[in-house]
Amino acid sequence: MRIFHSTTEFFPYIKVGGLSDMIASLSQYQAKKHEVHVAVPLLESIRPKIQFSGEVFPAVDPKDSGHSDASRALHDSKFLHTKEGNVNLYFFDSPVIRNYQRIYANHDECYSFAVFSAASTFLARYLNADVVHAHDWHTALVPVLCNSLDPKIPTVFTIHNMAYQGDHPFWMTSFLRMDPFFIDIEKLANLEKVNYMKGALMYSQEITTVSPGYRDEIMNEPEGFHLSWLLRQRQDSFTGVLNGINVSEWNPRTDKKIYVNYDDTMVDEGKKENKLKLYQEYGLYVDLERPLVGMISRLTFQKGFETFLPSFYQKHYLPYYYIMLGTGEPHLESIFLHESHHSNQRLYFYKGFDEYLARKIEAAADFFLMPSLFEPCGLNQMYSHAYGTIPIVSRVGGLKDSVHESSDYAYLTGFVFEPGQHHSLNYALERALTLYYNKEALSMVRKNIMKINWGWENSEAKYEKIYLRAIQKGPKG
Ligand code: ADP
Ligand code: GLC
Repeated sequence: MRIFHSTTEFFPYIKVGGLSDMIASLSQYQAKKHEVHVAVPLLESIRPKIQFSGEVFPAVDPKDSGHSDASRALHDSKFLHTKEGNVNLYFFDSPVIRNYQRIYANHDECYSFAVFSAASTFLARYLNADVVHAHDWHTALVPVLCNSLDPKIPTVFTIHNMAYQGDHPFWMTSFLRMDPFFIDIEKLANLEKVNYMKGALMYSQEITTVSPGYRDEIMNEPEGFHLSWLLRQRQDSFTGVLNGINVSEWNPRTDKKIYVNYDDTMVDEGKKENKLKLYQEYGLYVDLERPLVGMISRLTFQKGFETFLPSFYQKHYLPYYYIMLGTGEPHLESIFLHESHHSNQRLYFYKGFDEYLARKIEAAADFFLMPSLFEPCGLNQMYSHAYGTIPIVSRVGGLKDSVHESSDYAYLTGFVFEPGQHHSLNYALERALTLYYNKEALSMVRKNIMKINWGWENSEAKYEKIYLRAIQKGPKG
């Protein structure tokens, strides 16, 4: 099969969250069996990091005679090719995107991502793709545009986060009525706005989201963010497929970003040494007996830190030490900075995005906390398993699909509490502490979770079936 992805993130070049890891690891896995092509935006900041192959691909038909701003921008754009393993990557080198300082939250993104989607659609046709797979609202116009081609190309659309749908007022998106788009934007209207994700949910042959648990949640409100009605209409073409992870990248036996490598037979010693080195590097108070809880996250409402804070204050007598790496909403950053300075060695907050520190925390921590209010999949609970770090998660979306609590420690893969309820989190922290003080059980749980295989085998096979279904159905008329 010739598979074409359109995405705004791709690890290691552009990473804001899990989409980046997901698409990079899925496409690498698919490329073992299939021909895989991925279109991704090029930013000036990443240009020096890429070794291009020298091949250049068009973003629009040179004979196209459109005169709108978008058409002219496409004539001034091109795709620069490189290979990442067996995956063909095409960086969209365009005046509408290349000067962005960051990939999201730019004032004209409803325009630039539409132009990128038009270019992706052209490239998919140019490469004669069998199926096109678009991800999240930024590329949600790809299925709409593929559906207007002659012949049409079958599409699959994956929802990584229902909270972001790309909905904009009509006046901002009127350019979509003209060339090269010619989209009937009335059809994309939801709550009186033009909603890009709605377009994808209407026109893609198959819809997926990144866990079965989240699939069920977003077919209802409020989790569906006002589009649950459409997902219910399309439920026969809507599947939840749990993300896999790149098991060779996230592997404490070989990870060059951590201080000391370890495997399951020496996980207790390995963690202790990583903990010591981490405390030393960051100038933290060294007490290796204290249980260490790691947190690595975008700081947004979704991630549920408002649930963590009351628990942190109420349970001040528990011996936990928290290390948090994150960046995001300013009010959360300032609360955590404050606690980092005033909580008497209970919490250390590192504000920023740091791939190295993220690995070091995974290797050093005893527990990993994810108090999300909703979580489409979540990757860090799986990364934590790989590093023998026991997740403490809320019972939502992909977290509840991948973490299992049991009173029999032999079957426990983490601790689970009710979302948004700090009392429930308090109690989970107490249960986790009981395990922590039972050294034999702790060691057994660590060894067990390190043996879980979160690789792509199962989920990639599910995507393959979904692609075949999309191809069989043929594009919708
Ligand atoms: P989301 O995509 O909603 O942010 P995921 O759990 O799917 O959540 O993926 C988040 C990814 O981003 C993980 O690989 C996590 O380690 C990484 N990450 C988040 N914040 C940071 C940060 N500040 N520094 C380094 N990595 C981060
Ligand atoms: C989104 C979700 C996260 C998921 C990731 C990759 O960013 O918030 O839960 O793991 O996409 O699919």
